Amino acid sequence: MKLSPSMLSADFTQLGEQIRLVDAAGADYIHLDIMDGQFVPNITFGAVVVEAVRSVTDKPLDVHMMIEEPIRYLEDFKKAGADIVTVHVEACKHLHRTVSRIRELDMKAGVALNPATSVNVLNYIFDDVDMALVMGVNPGFAGQTFIPAMLDKIKRIHKIADDKGLKNLEIEVDGGITLNNVSAVVDAGANVIVAGSAIFSGNPGENVKEFLKRMY
Ligand code: DX5
Ligand code: ZN
Repeated sequence: MKLSPSMLSADFTQLGEQIRLVDAAGADYIHLDIMDGQFVPNITFGAVVVEAVRSVTDKPLDVHMMIEEPIRYLEDFKKAGADIVTVHVEACKHLHRTVSRIRELDMKAGVALNPATSVNVLNYIFDDVDMALVMGVNPGFAGQTFIPAMLDKIKRIHKIADDKGLKNLEIEVDGGITLNNVSAVVDAGANVIVAGSAIFSGNPGENVKEFLKRMY
């Protein structure tokens, strides 16, 4: 089980301090949401900020690319210090080429699925990915409500991973996760939990500890 706080909801005037707080409280990964204003309506930040984050933590950087054709920027994010790069199936013309390139660059490769996207798109690339990311909301913004049907999607991926003996596949869930529904997504089979607003509203360190308690 891993917890990956999404920095999108952090106080950006104190980014370093906010990362240190969640890092010290036991966060496993640091989740960084890259948005381009094309694939999703919102724009966030790019490799320069990832590089700055790299300088204040040793935790793996879990970079979630919500951009069109992310293959164009993989080298940049590698240089910035990314450990895991997750791309959206809906944003890649050549998904297999993109995930292969991520691994060639010696990073872990993740594939994210929008709420309406079927798990079938993963059928022929399960062996080529390290992580499947189930979006609990439509990507673009923090603070939205979890779509309950995504529990079934998590269960399906968990079952496929079991059937195929993919013991190391990480099943990440992102969007709308709170202290109230985290146990349900863990029970469904998610093993990497992303949370943004639920961690950075109030005391981030305490919230991380509370999440960890409810995950195990
Ligand atoms: C949404 C982002 C999420 C977001 C999660 O498009 O990918 O990582 O920051 O925020 P919450 O946890 O508030 O839904
Ligand atoms: Zn994300």
